[in-house]
Amino acid sequence: MKRLRKKSRKKPVPRLRYPLTRSIALVGLMGAGKTTVGMRLARRLGIPFLDSDAEIEVAAGHTVSEIFEKYGEKDFRDGERKVINRLITGPNIVLGTGGGAFMDEDTRKTLKEKAVTVWLRADVELLVERTSRRDTRPLLQKGNPKQILRELAEKRYPVYAQADINVESGAGAHEEVVNNIIRKLNHYLAEERLKNKGKQDDKPAIR
Ligand code: S3P
Repeated sequence: MKRLRKKSRKKPVPRLRYPLTRSIALVGLMGAGKTTVGMRLARRLGIPFLDSDAEIEVAAGHTVSEIFEKYGEKDFRDGERKVINRLITGPNIVLGTGGGAFMDEDTRKTLKEKAVTVWLRADVELLVERTSRRDTRPLLQKGNPKQILRELAEKRYPVYAQADINVESGAGAHEEVVNNIIRKLNHYLAEERLKNKGKQDDKPAIR
């Protein structure tokens, strides 16, 4: 007897359905996957990926840890503000921002104005596991990383939630997180186009 082939339950791989009107900025806590997911997202969209921490290090000629140690967090945030403003003003990119960038009022304003902001949300347990692989994050060297991440999550999550798009960045495949970002981007861009069209229609016809 002929065997019926089971229908695949896999969701189709989404593609961006509208032209990108501006850059995409990923925000979220340390270990949320901003770099790993960001690089994959950029590849899928055919635009460059840049990481704000890496760009700050190039501009300053010091590692992030060195900047914190030698000059303090305030100077780091000042540099971060300038670098992010420069990066987000050029051609479209996917920008992975440092975890504290979106907490700075001016940087947040710049990102909200000039990019589509995406919050990669992850559970603290997962962040603890992911961040334990490297000791390059000065904020986590100050005490118990789990406790620090928990406190940061409490303080920062309500602010990260102001991002245009929120996506869960769990323990599953990064490619699936990318798929979810693209699906939500399609909704976001479609709504934006509708809003803009509404604005055009409202304009008085000048003859
Ligand atoms: C920070 C996050 C780090 C880096 C710096 C401060 C933060 O970036 O910018 O150590 O305040 O959360 P990642 O989120 O890429 O680790």
